[in-house]
This record gives sequence, structure tokens and C-alpha cells, in this order.
Amino acid sequence: MSTLIKGGTVVNAEQSFQADVICDGGLIKAIGPDLEAPAGATVVDAGGQYVMPGGIDPHTHMQLPFMGTVASEDFESGTSAGLAGGTTMIIDFVIPGPQQNLMEAYKQWREWAEKSVSDYSFHVAITWWDDSVHDDMGTLVRDHGVNSFKHFMAYKGAIMADDEILVNSFARSLELGAIPTVHAENGELVFRLQKELFEKGITGPEGHPLSRPPECEGEAANRAIRIAEVLKVPLYVVHNSCRQSLEAITRARNEGQRVFGEVLAGHLLVDDSIYRHKDFDTAAAHVMSPPFRSSEHQDALWKGLQSGNLQTTATDHCCFCADQKAAGKDDFRLIPNGTGGVENRMEVLWHHGVNTGKLTMNEFVKVTSTNAAQIFNVYPRKGSISVGADADIVVWDPEATKTISSKTDHQNVDYNIFEGMQIKGCPSHTISQGNVVYANGELRVERGAGRYIDRPPFAPYYDALQKQARHAEPVAVKR
Ligand code: URP
Ligand code: ZN
Ligand code: ZN
Repeated sequence: MSTLIKGGTVVNAEQSFQADVICDGGLIKAIGPDLEAPAGATVVDAGGQYVMPGGIDPHTHMQLPFMGTVASEDFESGTSAGLAGGTTMIIDFVIPGPQQNLMEAYKQWREWAEKSVSDYSFHVAITWWDDSVHDDMGTLVRDHGVNSFKHFMAYKGAIMADDEILVNSFARSLELGAIPTVHAENGELVFRLQKELFEKGITGPEGHPLSRPPECEGEAANRAIRIAEVLKVPLYVVHNSCRQSLEAITRARNEGQRVFGEVLAGHLLVDDSIYRHKDFDTAAAHVMSPPFRSSEHQDALWKGLQSGNLQTTATDHCCFCADQKAAGKDDFRLIPNGTGGVENRMEVLWHHGVNTGKLTMNEFVKVTSTNAAQIFNVYPRKGSISVGADADIVVWDPEATKTISSKTDHQNVDYNIFEGMQIKGCPSHTISQGNVVYANGELRVERGAGRYIDRPPFAPYYDALQKQARHAEPVAVKR
């Protein structure tokens, strides 16, 4: 089945140009002026619209078992919502429980994800350490297309990774040609502040941001960066929410360190006053970690994105409905942490980024797709409109307007953190593996059509890094 996208302007990270695009067999087959439609092809009229690489959300948690409940969005509903918003690939997380075998957890997540309607991949979290974890990391990289490992520096008593785990896992990642990633918050400090606040009688959602100040995030980001510096391993810092962690990344990058930073659409646009909302459900719906911050931090994050010190945008899509959030009615520490946004990331970034002049269209493509593809080593298969690439494409109507609402979105959660936001510019069509899966408001998805995407290790670059490593003999990468 072929698809011809006709009359649009192709926008890649490097350049924009007028061209038609032919997709066939799941791949982009031809790009050029005035292409003829192959027999039986579906024709998408892209006149006056932009034809861009489908979005990659490098940070989601579909159906995550977390804080005594399970995220309401599963892989089918979550990837459907992503496609409705122009996101054609997610990178989700396998998160083994403490002491849970890594391979067992990986297989469990792979099974859950089989119903995905768009392509997906997995980072694997390292939540504990022993020889089996060391060995399983090798198996995952060599045989299962995993090239990134996640470390939660918060969530003490649950999935928190202490410095010993970080050091072991970062060093192992370097050996394997994988990139470590961190959720940077000082979990010990958060634990102590939570206890102090609760004992003082601060039991509502307003306690959440107070217990997770930017300094806790800045300290953890800096610590992870310095550990990575000593071990000479690249590092990816997820969901930077504040000036302090951005400064740690910027400083390291200025010193030549290979550190990457992600920012969430929510952290760019939602501010912390929401936690003082008089309605518990509204405030609790926004409880996520790190929390939303004041406008000072939002301004810094936009500048980080503009300057290139932050390279990717994500959502950390991890949805819990009001009845789940109610678990923390009398104790903010028990409110399941997480919010949604996989459907809205591209449109809110376009509206607040491109329409305001903060980002060019090409920069928009970089931060919503291409940079994630490059950092996680699936470029140019993903993140590029080029011949031979996967035909994952969004046709973007810059004139379309809408008001975001949980009543009309496709996300399986009863609240939208961008509720009521009026935006201009959103997808008219989304194409996944060459098929039109979203057209003018209508989803045409197929359960299970999404594929697991292997992400190969970064061997050549890492070979050089291993040779430079100061504290270890180079270790041969087994291929
Ligand atoms: O609050 C959040 N972010 N929940 C999901 C887990 C995580 O920390 O990324
Ligand atoms: Zn996190
Ligand atoms: Zn997350």
C-alpha cells in the first residue's frame, strides 16, 4: 500500500523545501517535485502544510505499576493518543522492582507493549545491583536492542539508585556502548523534607513542590554529571525542570562533556501555583516529579532549548485518574506521581515555540524528533524525511486552531494539564509505517501494528572513550 503526500513543504532539522513524498512498504521511497501517485496509492493533500518527521517522545510510562497503582494509559491507548498528536514513536521504560530480575522485567514490558499502535522502544532502569544485573545489561545491549539505562536518584525505599549503583551501572554502560540516563533529584533530601513538612501539618498537594526544591534537582544533576565525567561516559538527564539542573548541564557541555538534557512540555508551560489550587483533584492531577516550577525556571528552560543546551522534549506521560490520585488525600506523599501530555507535546511546542519565534520550524523538528533519534541511535531511520527512512510522518496544518481539553483528547486520563489552552498549529494527518493512521480528527489505528525498535550500541564512539578512560583499562566491546 503506497501513500503520496502531495503539495507540502518538507521540514527537516537541516532544511525546508517544497516536495512531494511517496511512502511504500513502510519506508519513504521518493521525495521530489510533482511525483506521480503509484497505482492505488492513498493521496494526502498537504497544500499549505508542513511535512515533518513524526515526533519521538523519548520519555513515557504506559501502564506503569507505580506507587501502589497502575498508570491508566496502556500501550494501545497511549500510542493512539501519541499518533493523534503527531508522535509516531515513544521510548518507554522497563522498571524492574527492587531485586527483580532485569530480563524478567524486560520480557514483561515487551508483552505489555505488544498492543502498541505505533513504534516504540525501551530504556531499562537499573534499580539495584549484583552480578546478574551486570550480566543482563550486556544481554540487553547485545541481543535486545537496548542502548540506554535509566537511574532514578529519587523515590527512596522504592526504585532509588544510590551512588554505588550509579557508579557500577555508568561504568558498565560505557563498556557496553550504552548511554546512562538519570532522573535527577536527591532522594535523601526529598525524603527528609517530605517528613518534616508532613509533621508540620502540611499534608496537601502544596507540600509536593516544597519537598522537592530546585536545589535537590540541581545537586543530583551535578552529582550524576560529575560521576559521568570521572568515568568518561556520556549522560542524558531526563525531565530538567529548573535553572539549577540546566546550569549543571550547560557548565558540563561548556567544558566539553557529552551531556544531554531533556525538558518536558509541561515544565515549559505549567507553573507551580497549581499546587495551591483549592480543589484537591486539580492540584493532585499536577503532582509529578520533579514538580512544575515558577516562571523564572520556565524562562530558563526555554532558553536552554533555544541555546541547544537542552536537546529533546518529552512528556513523561504517566497518567493517573482522580480516583487514583485520591490515595494521597490526607498525605501528599501518597499521591501517585505523574501527568499526561503525549498527545499535546508537539502542538503546545509549536504554538508556544514556533508561533512566538522562540524556535524555528527546523529547530522544532530537532527538539521534537531528530535529536532524540540521534541521541538514542535510531537516526536516520527515525527523525528524518529522507529516502530509505521509516515513513513516520506528520502533516502539520499551521492554520488549524483548537482548545485542548480532556473531554476531546484521546488520552485515557480524566485531566489534561494543558486544559483550556488555545493553540494554533496541529497535525492534519499522521502517517506511521507509511499508513495514514490519523486524518483530520479521526484515528485509524490497528492494535498491535506498532513495532519494537532496536537501538544499537554506540560502539565506534565509545571505543574512543574507553581508550581515554582514566580509571579503568579499556574493555573490549563484544560484538
Ligand atoms: O512523576 C513522575 N515523573 N512519574 C513518573 C516516574 C518518573 O519519575 O519519571
Ligand atoms: Zn522521573
Ligand atoms: Zn518518567
